[in-house]
Amino acid sequence: MNTEEMQKEIRGLLKEKNAVLLAHYYQEGDIQDIADFLGDSLALSMEAARTRADCIVFAGVRFMAETAAILAPDKTVLLPVPEAGCPLADRITADELKKARQQHPHAAVVTYVNSTAETKALSDICCTSTNAVKVVQSMDTHEILMTPDGNLARYVSRFTRIPIIPWNGDCPVHQGLTPGDIRKVREEHPGAPLAVHPECSPEVIDLADFTGSTSAIIEFAGKTEAGKVIIGTESGIIHELEKRYPGKTFVAAAASLVCEDMKKIKLKDVLAALRETRHVVTVAEEIRLPAHRALSRMLELA
Ligand code: 13P
Ligand code: SF4
Repeated sequence: MNTEEMQKEIRGLLKEKNAVLLAHYYQEGDIQDIADFLGDSLALSMEAARTRADCIVFAGVRFMAETAAILAPDKTVLLPVPEAGCPLADRITADELKKARQQHPHAAVVTYVNSTAETKALSDICCTSTNAVKVVQSMDTHEILMTPDGNLARYVSRFTRIPIIPWNGDCPVHQGLTPGDIRKVREEHPGAPLAVHPECSPEVIDLADFTGSTSAIIEFAGKTEAGKVIIGTESGIIHELEKRYPGKTFVAAAASLVCEDMKKIKLKDVLAALRETRHVVTVAEEIRLPAHRALSRMLELA
């Protein structure tokens, strides 16, 4: 079967099964092209919560599918490749967070959605990279423990007086972008603004012209007068940027900006999952309920 045939069969099965395909910007282009909804983590969570479909096929990584299962327990959520995880989410365990809570009994726990359901369940509120600053600024507390991404925590602490204790986790893709990469790409593309994700290191953020979530980077790229933009996040986003702004050029800040987990899902896996309704993601009710509370607090602010 070629790409077009698979895409056609997927669209047909989605209709037949009253299912929706939700895809993140880091997915392969041929999956993004046929998604019912393409978005950043926040928009995808909101769509999962609001959809009337019976089934959600999640083209993303496990924490995203889990978030959908937490928010929409009456729907069948499929993750086409169950091994598509997130090394950042795995940087904290429930036991480690319980211990940290004992060490910082007065700190409120803000957890990035790039986390396991168990971590969310032990947190006071969740955030995404789109709303992290807003979430933290909304809090009435003297101290915040922010998990699992230390870089996002350090970035957010630039916008609040509340002391933030960053967890020692990072995303290998964004952390892997170095000031040396930036110097090189800037030399190759002089004058082009650089937009980076807040999961990047503080040193890289300091060198950027813009810092924001995937959707914020897309917005920035459209608004800037520059005809060329250097992109400091996972390169799958360039597919959407080129579609939206055909007159502009987008350059990946480094060749290493590829999330292997996001790229585990291929069109054929989406098709197989749909055909057989396989790789269902579920979250046990005793974890789902407290995780739902942390996510709902975030969504109420959105
Ligand atoms: P966004 O929240 O910007 O979509 O980012 C998700 C992600 O996994 C970043 O690595
Ligand atoms: Fe996780 Fe990083 Fe991949 Fe995002 S880019 S899914 S944070 S490993």
